[in-house]
Amino acid sequence: IQRSFSSSVVRNVVIKNVTIIGGGQMGAGIAQVAASTGHSVTLVDMTDDILKKAMKGIQGSLRRVVKKKFSDDPESGDDFIQKVMQNVSTTTNPAAAVTTSDLVVEAIVENMKIKQDLFGFLDKMAPEHTIFASNTSSLPISDMASATSRPDRCGGLHFFNPVPMMKLVEVVATSSTSPETSESLLNFTKALGKTPVCCKDTPGFIVNRLLVPYMMEALRLHERGHGSKEDIDIAMKLGAGYPMGPFELSDYVGLDTIKFITDGWREKEPDNPLFAPSDLLNKLVAEGKLGKKSLEGFYKYN
Ligand code: CAA
Ligand code: NAD
Repeated sequence: IQRSFSSSVVRNVVIKNVTIIGGGQMGAGIAQVAASTGHSVTLVDMTDDILKKAMKGIQGSLRRVVKKKFSDDPESGDDFIQKVMQNVSTTTNPAAAVTTSDLVVEAIVENMKIKQDLFGFLDKMAPEHTIFASNTSSLPISDMASATSRPDRCGGLHFFNPVPMMKLVEVVATSSTSPETSESLLNFTKALGKTPVCCKDTPGFIVNRLLVPYMMEALRLHERGHGSKEDIDIAMKLGAGYPMGPFELSDYVGLDTIKFITDGWREKEPDNPLFAPSDLLNKLVAEGKLGKKSLEGFYKYN
């Protein structure tokens, strides 16, 4: 049964129960921040092993957080970690995970078909009031929403890596997102202690539309022989005040992610020079040198 397109039941959902689908670097970070701010979180991934790794990552990150926050009271720090961990449960069963969910945030692989299949499936399982949000870096939220019977209750919540440290969340409204849904998402990001900005459903929203072409320009500058990676990174850190240079940041985000984003945008705007490909980026990705996560990208890590 198709539910009514614009629900009259749903008004300003207060978000308490959150389901995060995908326990990778972003999903685990979002789960951590939501649990740290008193939300009840269910983290979903494909295998128990991945979920175990995600929980270990959350615990490690929490240790870094409490080291500073509770520096003169380590016992309270330990209590805090325990309480936060108790707010997170894990499962490999997404259908069961959404039955009491106020908000579902997907942070799975950056692939439209897989995201649409997930949203379409969960739409049949989740209660009427549940809001669906995507953490996509580059894909249209409206295309995901169209796989559901609740486009008015779909939007974007775009977090930044590393989630526990980065204060911004882009809150994305499509032309179908209801004002109530937008308000609930804005209130949720504030409850997380983050600062929201409102974005339209346009490629890259605000940050990535500016940041990704900048990283690609750095690559092209280097490929023209106009600067070493190291010098370009130093220049942008010391000359422009960026915390990381463009090559360090590309390695941090993942070279496969940068390539995926620019390839997708180039398909839509083939003549835009900002989206031109880079031979060096293509070569590194083909060699499996994806950045920090594979221990080698522009730089080596160990
Ligand atoms: N969890 C908890 N704490 C963390 C952490 C994590 N994952 N990562 C870093 N920290 C903490 C450290 O423990 C440290 O805390 P103290 O100050 O108490 O010691 C603090 O952050 C600083 O860390 P470091 O000293 O290791 O390094 P740093 O000063 O360079 O800061 C950084 C690290 C916050 C990541 C900083 O380098 C930075 O802001 N880099 C830019 C990141 C960025 O631009 N992200 C956006 C990428 S684009 C994106 O995400 C969107 C997309 O769709 C692709
Ligand atoms: P990741 O590869 O670290 O994690 C993705 C996780 O999703 C994996 O653990 C995988 O097992 C799981 N997964 C895949 N398909 C699934 C499914 N159908 N059901 C359940 N789990 C599934 O990726 P990531 O870097 O965390 O990125 C996740 C999303 O966040 C992507 O859409 C990406 O574009 C976006 N994003 C990434 C960054 C970044 O800097 N890496 C920043 C902001 C947004």
